[in-house]
Amino acid sequence: MKLLAIVGSPRLKGNTNYLVDQALEEAEKLGAQTEKITLSQYKVRPCLGHDNCASLESCLQKDDAGWILDRFCEADGVILATPVYWYNVSAQMKAFIDRNYFPYKHDRKYRARAVGIIVVAEMEAIEDTLHTLRQFIDWSFDVKEDRIFVACGYANKIGDAKNNLLLVEEARKVGRQMT
Ligand SMILES: Cc1cc2nc3c(=O)[nH]c(=O)nc-3n(C[C@H](O)[C@H](O)[C@H](O)COP(=O)(O)O)c2cc1C
Repeated sequence: MKLLAIVGSPRLKGNTNYLVDQALEEAEKLGAQTEKITLSQYKVRPCLGHDNCASLESCLQKDDAGWILDRFCEADGVILATPVYWYNVSAQMKAFIDRNYFPYKHDRKYRARAVGIIVVAEMEAIEDTLHTLRQFIDWSFDVKEDRIFVACGYANKIGDAKNNLLLVEEARKVGRQMT
C-alpha cells in the first residue's frame, strides 16, 4: 500500500516530524511504501476564495498544491500531522486543507481507506485541533470510523516527543494500524 503523510510543522526536526517518522517506520516494516511531505518545504498558498473551482480546469493558484493533492487523492492511506498553533492546526495545514476545496468541488474521490491523525501540543487545545481535522476527514474521505487512527499528546521543545514514550508508542501504533 502507498501511505502518504502530510506534515504541518515547519520544524523539520521537531516533535510532529519525529512522530510521523516513527509511524512511517513501523508501516514500512509491514511492507507499506511511504512518503512524507512536510508542507513548509513547498509552496502551498492559501485558497483565493473565488468559489469558482467547478468551472475551472485547474486551480488559479499555481504552486505545489496541485501535485501534492494528486498524491493525496491517490494514496491508499494518509496521515495528517500537525502541531497545535493557537488552539488549532498550523497555518501550513490549514492552507492545505482549504486547497482541498478544488478536488471537493470537482467531486474527486479520495482513494484512502485508512486515515491517521497525529497532533502535538505544548499544553492545550488538542481537542479543538482534532475537531478541525475530523471535520475535514468526514467531508473528504469515505472512511469508516474504525479506520481512523489517532496519536496525540504533549511535547514542546525539539526532542520532547522522543522522551514522551507513551506518545511515541501511540504514533508507532498508528503506523502499524494503517497498513
Ligand atoms: C505559533 C505557535 C502557537 C502555538 N499554540 C499552541 C497552543 O495553542 N496550544 C498548545 O498547547 N501549544 C501551542 N504551541 C506549542 C506547540 O504546539 C508545541 O511546541 C509543539 O510541540 C510544536 O510541534 P513541532 O515541534 O512539531 O513544531 C504553539 C507554538 C507556536 C510556535
